[in-house]
Amino acid sequence: MGYKFDGCDTVALAREYGTPLYVLSECLVRERLSELRTSFLDRYEDTFALYASKAFLTLEMCRIVASEGIGLDVVSGGEIYIANRAGFPMERVFFHGNNKSREELEFAIDLGVGRIVVDSVHELELVTRVAAERSARPRILFRITPGVAGHTHEYISTGQVDSKFGIPLLSDDLENVVRTALASEHVELLGFHAHIGSQLHANDAFLEATGVLFELVKRVQPLGLRTRELNLGGGYGVRYTSDDDPKPLGYFTDAIMEAVRTHSARLGLPVPRIVIEPGRWIVAEAGVTLYTVGSIKQIPGVRTYVAVDGGMADNPRPALYGARYAAVVADRPDDPAESLVTVAGKCCESGDILIKDIKLQNPRPGDTLAVFSTGAYNHSMASTYNLLPRPAVVMTNAGMHRLSVRRETYDDLLARELTRTEADAS
Ligand code: LLP
Repeated sequence: MGYKFDGCDTVALAREYGTPLYVLSECLVRERLSELRTSFLDRYEDTFALYASKAFLTLEMCRIVASEGIGLDVVSGGEIYIANRAGFPMERVFFHGNNKSREELEFAIDLGVGRIVVDSVHELELVTRVAAERSARPRILFRITPGVAGHTHEYISTGQVDSKFGIPLLSDDLENVVRTALASEHVELLGFHAHIGSQLHANDAFLEATGVLFELVKRVQPLGLRTRELNLGGGYGVRYTSDDDPKPLGYFTDAIMEAVRTHSARLGLPVPRIVIEPGRWIVAEAGVTLYTVGSIKQIPGVRTYVAVDGGMADNPRPALYGARYAAVVADRPDDPAESLVTVAGKCCESGDILIKDIKLQNPRPGDTLAVFSTGAYNHSMASTYNLLPRPAVVMTNAGMHRLSVRRETYDDLLARELTRTEADAS
């Protein structure tokens, strides 16, 4: 019996759908969404949660999220487009991003997204102009840079002062944008947003950021702003390997809500709506990637490379962030993991290493390798580097499975290229 994931035999999945294959468990996603409900939404009044869709977005994912009543954090016209095509309620879509284009803003405002999270002075001007042209009045938040650094990889840490995201607190820009927004008929300013980073296992940075946001609420009160909403971003950590010790959501949200209560009381401020937007925490552990083992290269006394039929094209995270993953030889999950190997991808780069130094169950050519916790930022960050077609996505649900996104074909790889005649004609 092969390794079972969400009641499905992964070796049989690999055989039926081919490899590399992303497998995402609807069951596990819904478990997280229900934990979100019980630990946060049902527990605290006037709260809301968004799924940060950059982690993994398909039509089906949109429908799952929509059916659970939460919202969607999007960062591009493309993400808005998919949400809209899936019939996602647009008032529950919050539009983020540090350099939204005029076209994206027009699209978002025309579709009536719930919030635009304005990232800069420049963007406020653009949003106001686009809204005025349409006699619209989108609801906005300002993203601020809280000056709080989460303890995580530099590339996924966003809250520190030296960041491309958000309006700095240490300048007059803040007062200026708040004044401008309050004076405009074409935006409705509800409050502020801060996101400090990703894959965080401790709640201290969240508490610090909460404090910073409340000081800000107090600071802008004299300008006439009654803050109705604070969005604290996402970033809750998950388990990739046994070195990670992820906490339940309540560990973060209880502490955040306690801090919210304390700060409001201390500063004499009404409690605003608190919004959170986890991405990775909802999908990462709900996904595994299945590969087929190909060549095995033993360099005596140095290293054994086990090559699989995917790599940095379907999972760029090890190459980008030095991310660590755990895996099992799905054909023999109960055998002792005694062979120390390095799992390599098939891209034409020495850096295409999926897992350096991992103990596996004596992998052999033809085996299926299941790599865990690949539900977040794998499918969404995949490329066709080396013209490797992107893998299919199979959704599982307690022993059932179905194809959700088909594998890319060679023709798909060429679909955007113009023939000579088409090029001449255009
Ligand atoms: N909200 C905002 C404004 C964000 O920028 C992000 C992530 C999230 C929420 C969700 O963060 P999460 O809960 O997923 O940690 N590609 C990187 C992660 C980049 C995260 C970007 N922003 C990775 O693979 O680790």
